[in-house]
Amino acid sequence: MHEFCYVGKKLFCEGVAIETLAEKYGTPLYVYSQGTLTRHFQELDGAMAPVEHRVCFAVKSNSNQSVLRTLANLGSGFDIVSGGELQRVIAAGGDARNCVFAGVGKTEAEIEFALRQGVYSFNAESEPELQRINRVAARLKKIAPVAVRVNPNVDAHTHAKITTGTYENKFGIALEHTEGVYARAAKLKHLRLRGLQMHIGSQLTAVAPFEQAVRKVVPLLEKLKVRHRLEFFSIGGGLGIVYQPALASGAAAWWQSAAGKKIMTPRIYAAQLLPLLQPLGLRILMEPGRFISGNSGLLVTRVEFVKRTGKKNFVIVDAAMNDLIRPAFYDAYHEIVPLTQKGGARISSDVVGPICESGDFFCKDRALPKVGEGDYLALLSAGAYGFVMASNYNTRSLAAEVLVNGQRAALVRERQPVAEIWSGEKVAPWL
Ligand SMILES: Cc1ncc(COP(=O)(O)O)c(C=O)c1O
Repeated sequence: MHEFCYVGKKLFCEGVAIETLAEKYGTPLYVYSQGTLTRHFQELDGAMAPVEHRVCFAVKSNSNQSVLRTLANLGSGFDIVSGGELQRVIAAGGDARNCVFAGVGKTEAEIEFALRQGVYSFNAESEPELQRINRVAARLKKIAPVAVRVNPNVDAHTHAKITTGTYENKFGIALEHTEGVYARAAKLKHLRLRGLQMHIGSQLTAVAPFEQAVRKVVPLLEKLKVRHRLEFFSIGGGLGIVYQPALASGAAAWWQSAAGKKIMTPRIYAAQLLPLLQPLGLRILMEPGRFISGNSGLLVTRVEFVKRTGKKNFVIVDAAMNDLIRPAFYDAYHEIVPLTQKGGARISSDVVGPICESGDFFCKDRALPKVGEGDYLALLSAGAYGFVMASNYNTRSLAAEVLVNGQRAALVRERQPVAEIWSGEKVAPWL
């Protein structure tokens, strides 16, 4: 099934022409396909079926309430990284008991809230954090379920800003220190050692680094699971997706092949990891974000001006780096396509936003169809780390979001009224 594809000359999301959404709700506009979210969740869930497991969607990748509700309805758990994300999950109808709480800097208030809500596990990243969780649990007369995030020191071969599993990174506890940490944590009376967790990075397009990390961790896990009666092993998220070019890859699944490029599928991932995981006899958790939400969304923008300089053709659009920061922040590639195909020659263009930064661009020197004022463009594969990283820089409103399901479309976030941006500010009384 094509969830984003051209029907005639118009780009559709499932059964809805995206241009009708742009006309109705304005731009910049995020559009998500419920069908794609569902299919991606089910592909991964199905591939891991031979082992007892739970997919815990990484809320940080896309935390819109309708996205979370879609996944909660499918039986997903959630990987959260703040008290705010836990509140969101609960508000969306998710169950705290299916949440794993990650992050290097959990505050006392966040730990207390999560304990009261009954999260499945705190994935602790340091000994001071374990001590803090123990202290809060003692005060509440509770036992806190914990796992330690182990850092296996494996290079994920991804962008430096999304590599998390080497000793250069702030995350987790070094593999060789982990056994000692468990031994000391076992003496803390208000902790229950429930599992072990790892997450080596994001946008991995090969299974080899996952496999390498699991192989490194398994001998330790074999010891710990017996000694501390562990129940689960979380292998984290990080499954990569195809960004380039997404539409060309067609029907079956965007991540399967694009422009001849083979990348990891859930089936390949599972086939290589299950033989290592099954003998452990533990419950396996996964924390995918991008894999489920990334290709499920796009960002629609409108062309404001086309400006030719001596050297360049600039397409100035109404979306900017505050709406989608990935190109500026990670040098990320997003395929850019028109909502209405016109044919004709392509022209080398920079697509840029109106923000006063040279980093405010979506592509540089890319052969794109000729466009003019009022035309709509879509930035594909923007469902993960898109809206969630948006800001109000340049006092620009947060974009609206729409969810599509078949022929139906619903506004799932209203465009932010501009005055709301400064509504919490006050003029100092002496001014
Ligand atoms: C602990 C943890 N789990 C899961 C994820 C999700 O990663 P991805 O979206 O690449 O699957 C992240 C991303 O930063 C993470 O830090």
